[in-house]
Amino acid sequence: MRLYERIMELAFTRLIFYPSNEVYGATAGFYDFGPVGILIKKKIIEEWRKTFIKKYGFYEVEGSIVTPEIVLKASGHVDEFTDPVVECQNCRAKIRADKLLEEKGITFEGLDDIKEKIKDVKCPRCGKPLGDNVYLINLMFPTNIGYDGLKAFLRPETAQSIFTSFIRNFRNLGGKLPLIIAQVGKSFRNEISPRQALVRLREFTQMEIEYFFDPEKQNDEVLYNEVKNKRFRIKLRGEDNPRFITVEKFKEKVMNNDAMAFFLAREWEFYTSLGLNPERMWFRHLSEEETPHYSKGNIDLEVETSYGIVEIAGNAYRTDYDLRRHQEFSKKSFEVNIGKKFIPHVVEASMGVERLFFCLLEHSYRPKTKEKEWEWFDLNPRIAPYEVAVYPLVKKDGLSDIGKSIAKSLREEFDVYYRETGSIGRRYAKADEIGVPYAITIDYQTKEDNTVTIRYRNDGKQERVSINNLVDKIKQNLKEGKRKVE
Ligand code: GLY
Repeated sequence: MRLYERIMELAFTRLIFYPSNEVYGATAGFYDFGPVGILIKKKIIEEWRKTFIKKYGFYEVEGSIVTPEIVLKASGHVDEFTDPVVECQNCRAKIRADKLLEEKGITFEGLDDIKEKIKDVKCPRCGKPLGDNVYLINLMFPTNIGYDGLKAFLRPETAQSIFTSFIRNFRNLGGKLPLIIAQVGKSFRNEISPRQALVRLREFTQMEIEYFFDPEKQNDEVLYNEVKNKRFRIKLRGEDNPRFITVEKFKEKVMNNDAMAFFLAREWEFYTSLGLNPERMWFRHLSEEETPHYSKGNIDLEVETSYGIVEIAGNAYRTDYDLRRHQEFSKKSFEVNIGKKFIPHVVEASMGVERLFFCLLEHSYRPKTKEKEWEWFDLNPRIAPYEVAVYPLVKKDGLSDIGKSIAKSLREEFDVYYRETGSIGRRYAKADEIGVPYAITIDYQTKEDNTVTIRYRNDGKQERVSINNLVDKIKQNLKEGKRKVE
């Protein structure tokens, strides 16, 4: 069993996530977050907000999900947002053709080449040669609006509503560039072969940032000063091995754009600080063939997992493509007039919540050892589902009442996991299993001196703390990311 399969099992039983509508046989590509997972997911999003939005005073919006066809005609998704599928000539299975060839290490260029190279490949389902029935299918979910049936789609990215509302926001937010607008929300892609793990979902959550700017000003001193001394790992075009480069070198060698450099440097810090292993990730400058239709340059963030390499962020220089197309299709002006008239350019940072979630679980998974006889997650305390567990040693002798009252007051500040039955060892294990960093135990000494123990997840060691200092102590621990006593 590969690690991701084990993680899926653990996620299902520990109520992190599980297949949607499983009593009806679950449809591939959809997962529900359970009571534990939703807390982690919300915290990941909140950390992202703090890091990328609040800190810099950028703006956030929430657009509609159902999107009229014309918007997605303009964006190019109706015509271009397609994947090649091969239909097995024997068993009629439909398989994503490009991914299958990639998995087999076969390179290709264009649809005709795929047809040629896939025809003798064996079908993963029936084992017979696939044949050359290869065609493109659109990945969007169609729907209709109202009774007259205006054609629409579930949005395939959150970005478009930021573009369609650009002029309204620009005018009413001071009429200045750069303007930075972000959005967190659901997007939908009708993937041909969604897989296990939270990797290729049909319904997923994006966190996107659109940086609008004057193309004659590729420099942004404010953003550049934030990251000028930073480094990150990247696979440059034509190179197989990632290497660390400085922001300066990136600008010299890859793209002389401060917003792009800023996003990459901040993403590197964000993902590593949340707990991804920096030795198992890198940015990759996509080749021209891989670059999406709207982009003049894409840099993805890739993470190594037992499932394979997972792309968790995409950064794109979208130029004026989207605004220009919306101007054309809507017949409304998308030009700004600030000394000169022009359509702004856009650099986009796009991140997927579920993929990040999955990679964090993999990189923080810890197997059983002699010291800890259960599998656990070494989650960064900032994104742990519950910051703290509260356990009376026993239910009787008033300890339960003290425990409940401590849990109640801690709930004003934190998410609190409270249990009063079962052995204390088993309850510690339960907290470790879902990554809770601190456990408070109320014992007989508590009644004497108003102190409790705080146990640290990673080494199982304990400190004695006064109840009056408990909130400050936990806050300080969270700030330091403390996971063990020493
Ligand atoms: N907005 C970029 C993407 O969804 O891939």
